[in-house]
Amino acid sequence: RVPVAVLISGRGSNMRALVAAAARPDYPARIVLVLSNVEGAPGLAHAEASGIPTLTIPHRAFGRDREAHERAVDAALRKEGVGLVCLAGYMRLLTPFLVRAWAGRMLNIHPSLLPAFPGLDTHARALAAGVKLHGCTVHHVTEAMDEGPIVAQAAVPVLPGDTEASLAARVLAAEHRLYPAALALVARGEAGVPAPGESLLANPLPLSTDD
Ligand code: GAR
Repeated sequence: RVPVAVLISGRGSNMRALVAAAARPDYPARIVLVLSNVEGAPGLAHAEASGIPTLTIPHRAFGRDREAHERAVDAALRKEGVGLVCLAGYMRLLTPFLVRAWAGRMLNIHPSLLPAFPGLDTHARALAAGVKLHGCTVHHVTEAMDEGPIVAQAAVPVLPGDTEASLAARVLAAEHRLYPAALALVARGEAGVPAPGESLLANPLPLSTDD
């Protein structure tokens, strides 16, 4: 089972979905560390309650030196023997240092159907654009933000009368199913970083809908 670290900055609901999935005996990954860049991030207490080791490395302690902060994060990941990193609401732009150090071994979840709506405020922008389908994406992290090879996506409808909150809740429920399924694919070696021109997935994603 691949040792995984989950990086969070806040609520940590995706982290909790990963922890819950990894508690199943047949899951191909185990969560060995939950790391936050924000002291007191609400997700940390949930991880601790589940018996997962947590660590906070506040970026504020490093001033403007992003790379120094990332070197501390990288050292912590290596110390725990981490094999894959999952960004889950980790609201930091990464420098090339951390991206290169974990190339092919770092995933992110983003609340839109990339390449639509990279960046922030995705639900408001989806509503403003009038799209009928919205959703979420798990992708490999590369130096260009929200542009790495896509591992898996889940779509949800945009319904008449949707508000930013109602749409965000529908997408978040999909995120909680998608991220564990996508991490399982990568942990099993079934969705690595493709060579140029190669497709990422040999088989369609087996998405479970039982939660
Ligand atoms: C999730 O919706 C995630 O997709 C998004 O932040 C939320 C974190 O929620 N990530 C980004 O916007 C990354 N740019 P969580 O802390 O409850 O998992």
